[in-house]
Amino acid sequence: MKSLLSFLIIGVVLAACTASPKSSTSVDKKIDSLMALMTLEEKLGQLNLPSAGQFTTGEAASSDIALKIEKGLVGGLFNIKSVAAIREMQQIAVEKSRLKIPLIFGMDVIHGYETTFPIPLGLSCTWNMELIEATARMAAQEASADGINWTFSPMVDLARDARWGRISEGSGEDTYLGSEIAKAMVRGYQGNDLSASNTLMSCVKHFALYGAAEAGLDYNTVDMSYHRMYNEYLPPYKAALDAGAGSIMASFNEINGIPATANKWLLTDVLRNEWGFRGFVVSDYTGVMEMVEHGIGDLQEVSAKALEAGLDMDMVSEGLLTTLEKSLKEGRINEAQINLACRRILEAKFKLGLFDDPYRYCDENRAKTEVFTPANRAFARKVAAESFVLLKNQNSLLPLKKTGTIALIGPLADAANQMSGTWSVATRHHESVSLLKGMQNVLGSNARILYAKGSNLDEDAQLEANATPFGKTLNRDPRPANVIREEALRIARQADVIVAAVGESAEMNGETASRVDIGIPETQRDLLKALVATGKPVVLVLFTGRPLILRWEHENLPAILNVWFGGSEAGDAIADVLFGDVNPSGKLTTTFPQHIGQIPIYYARKNTGRPLGQKKWFTKFLTNYLDVSNEPVYPFGYGLSFTTFTYSEPLLDKAVMGMNESLTISVDVTNTGSRDGAEVVQLYIRDLVGSVTRPVKELKAFKKINLKAGEKQKVTFTLTKDDLSFYNADLQFIAEPGEFHVYVGGDSQQVKQASFTLK
Ligand code: NOJ
Repeated sequence: MKSLLSFLIIGVVLAACTASPKSSTSVDKKIDSLMALMTLEEKLGQLNLPSAGQFTTGEAASSDIALKIEKGLVGGLFNIKSVAAIREMQQIAVEKSRLKIPLIFGMDVIHGYETTFPIPLGLSCTWNMELIEATARMAAQEASADGINWTFSPMVDLARDARWGRISEGSGEDTYLGSEIAKAMVRGYQGNDLSASNTLMSCVKHFALYGAAEAGLDYNTVDMSYHRMYNEYLPPYKAALDAGAGSIMASFNEINGIPATANKWLLTDVLRNEWGFRGFVVSDYTGVMEMVEHGIGDLQEVSAKALEAGLDMDMVSEGLLTTLEKSLKEGRINEAQINLACRRILEAKFKLGLFDDPYRYCDENRAKTEVFTPANRAFARKVAAESFVLLKNQNSLLPLKKTGTIALIGPLADAANQMSGTWSVATRHHESVSLLKGMQNVLGSNARILYAKGSNLDEDAQLEANATPFGKTLNRDPRPANVIREEALRIARQADVIVAAVGESAEMNGETASRVDIGIPETQRDLLKALVATGKPVVLVLFTGRPLILRWEHENLPAILNVWFGGSEAGDAIADVLFGDVNPSGKLTTTFPQHIGQIPIYYARKNTGRPLGQKKWFTKFLTNYLDVSNEPVYPFGYGLSFTTFTYSEPLLDKAVMGMNESLTISVDVTNTGSRDGAEVVQLYIRDLVGSVTRPVKELKAFKKINLKAGEKQKVTFTLTKDDLSFYNADLQFIAEPGEFHVYVGGDSQQVKQASFTLK
């Protein structure tokens, strides 16, 4: 009898779930019939996302995963690598569990899979949307070839506090650029067809405002006005969802006193009712149970709150799995709320085509042939080179000649395992290309390379250990700092030029890698000082996942190339730029302060009633510090090239723009140097008078162009009412008539100005 019943059930489920969903109603019906068969426990099982335990970021509450899958108590798994391992788990779900519902497999595919691209902050500095989309496409291709169908990316949290370690995982400080990148990433991951075997469902994170953690301390309280949320922080999430992202992750932080994971205003009023999002919401890692520590109830209470607020899936806590039945019996929640969450998870599995073929992403042959291929690695090399930002190049010290003797010195010079940077769980760290290897590849026998480490990452061994976890050691040298340094100086004195590879380690930024002192660590700076004192020219190759305080470096070193963490091919890419095979074109997407006390510092600030304006610093009773000027060392949008560009005055097609008209702005950009190069032409506006105060500058458009030496190109932008609109005091998105300034230039400060009136 029992076997007959299960036979019937299997028949109904298969009939209900096979064949591609053609319309949402046919999917709805299939889900209806499937859900009609599900027990309450099985429904709660769909809401459960335990970690597979291979790469965890906290304490896993789950155990006996296989048994749970068999009982129908698991909706998906994450951070499990390889087709074999994934197939094994999927097999349990679709062969041993009662209803045979396939699992969804997620992973932090953040900036590439095995082939890694620059960390997101670096990637954003390419300002190249096609390129960024292509990196996400390639990441999806590789990860899906290896069994994954869901990625926890893009991270679109706006960040303006360089102390926060996770600034490295996002696209910087700007709302408009961040939104454009969010869209490009989603398009790249998801393609046109989520059920294709080479696409991933995107999970936008961390909703919301995670990047505004107080004091740059990870997971910390966020307290923000609606004005700022709507105008600055929320648009990138919305842009990613409008681009079709299938899921979104609730952030760890609280908003208005309620953790995002249980914040009904956020997860229902804004996300569902205002924005019309139809996908599913997953918590962050242990985000549900962490609300006990936040102090808003015990596990049962916080789980009920999360469900009520609109959370659909619980990552790791198992609060929804283990407490909702009790809450239901007690009348604290209702079954419709559980059904809704369960339906959303099943819908996602339908979209991914898992009901058609649960092994759709489990093709061993693809795993062998499509991952970490020479072609993918060659592309990653190109992308990395495009992400580097040339911060200083006095007397055209760069590019270097491919001859003579070059001293390569620094703790990051021969450190293949650091090159991919943070959140690169799937990559082959030891096959990444170090700078030393890259220089050898590019120079061959044409030049002599002398190498020495020169210093440890930090004098403090414990700090260095904390900043080199996950086996990403920098092989600490136990000798005293001056001995390590002297060894390097002996080499440096023999060289024609010194390349100093210093900065942060890969994990000196990223999750729980906040820093209060964001300079190059002192022992490395001592090395730099000693290298400069040799009198040889020193090129600083800076590895970092955040803006650092580079005031001393800017004043004392002739050339600085910021290479972030460029990914698996970083070393080759850096050598490409150092020796002039590639002309750098990256532009900063976050401001580099001169002092940590200036944080938060960002170009799109508001004016005070007492702006310093053109007045001299220091001026009493105006907005300025006593001890440091208001300027950054390097502003948003800044980055040099081996060539130079000039801009004509911007020309507008009209002086008065009607509300329903568009405005065309054109500018001639000329490559005035002797090398071909690429330039990011940036357009900013200022709304001079508003019903609420408006930023002194806002990026509204940009174009990246290639110009041959001596070539001139006309660049044209079009603005419409939407580009001039903002959220007013009633949170209505409107454009207000009045005068606007338009600025065009190669960074946020070096610009040419024009004006128009909106009528
Ligand atoms: C915690 C991180 O905050 C999040 O970004 C990540 O996706 C999850 N862990 C899963 O690994």
